[in-house]
Amino acid sequence: MAKTDFLTCLIFLLLSATFWGNLSANSPNITTDQSTLLVFKSHITQDPHNLLATNWSTCTSVCNWIGVTCGSRHHRVTALDLSSLDLTGTIPSQLGNLSFLSWLNIRDNSFHGSLPIELTRLYRLKYLNFGNNSFHGEIPPWFGYLAKLQSLFLDNNYLSGSTLLSILNLFSQVTNVFIV
Ligand SMILES: *[C@@H]1O[C@H](CO)[C@@H](O)[C@H](O)[C@H]1NC(C)=O
Ligand SMILES: *[C@@H]1O[C@H](CO)[C@@H](O)[C@H](O)[C@H]1NC(C)=O
Ligand SMILES: *[C@@H]1O[C@H](CO)[C@@H](O)[C@H](O)[C@H]1NC(C)=O
Ligand SMILES: *[C@@H]1O[C@H](CO)[C@@H](O)[C@H](O)[C@H]1NC(C)=O
Repeated sequence: MAKTDFLTCLIFLLLSATFWGNLSANSPNITTDQSTLLVFKSHITQDPHNLLATNWSTCTSVCNWIGVTCGSRHHRVTALDLSSLDLTGTIPSQLGNLSFLSWLNIRDNSFHGSLPIELTRLYRLKYLNFGNNSFHGEIPPWFGYLAKLQSLFLDNNYLSGSTLLSILNLFSQVTNVFIV
């Protein structure tokens, strides 16, 4: 009887260890956020004031990096503000892995290229400011999938706005749009 209980208990422990082990192995954490930001850093080709070059170092916690804010509850990156730092670069698709991000501001830089569709994975995003950069192409209609988005700034880029009206129809929740 006692032996059976012991075995049941052991099997339960083994199963839950496997379960939680697999879960934590697959779930993103602050380490994932750090590697995501390092990928982003590697896509920044010019950083004239050497801000990220010296400050975004693996010797310090990603939460102390310039422009990075972490949430106290989940200890994940919740805001990224790299506005007006004279940066040149592109936006890698990996940025869509910052799953706790609610604020993204890279205004007044020289980011170029297109906006990767993976950004739709930032479903917590409330504020998105890509204004005054050098982004090209059509304004992507997938902005409409960002269900929590309240403010969107795409002004002063080389984006064409033929899909603008359909976007505006998609997100009625966006109260603060500045596109042209
Ligand atoms: C994040 O998860 C990885 C496994 O995916 C683990 O090795 C690492 O220790 C975790 N980091 C933190 C800070 O929890
Ligand atoms: C990075 O910048 C932040 C904010 O200015 C500062 O608090 C931190 O000490 C800097 N870290 C390094 C390694 O320079
Ligand atoms: C991050 O995103 C890219 C593409 O968007 C994906 O291939 C990669 O596996 C992701 N990495 C992690 C650690 O989740
Ligand atoms: C755009 O950003 C540059 C810095 O990259 C700044 O000098 C310029 O005044 C900004 N223009 C507008 C219209 O905000």
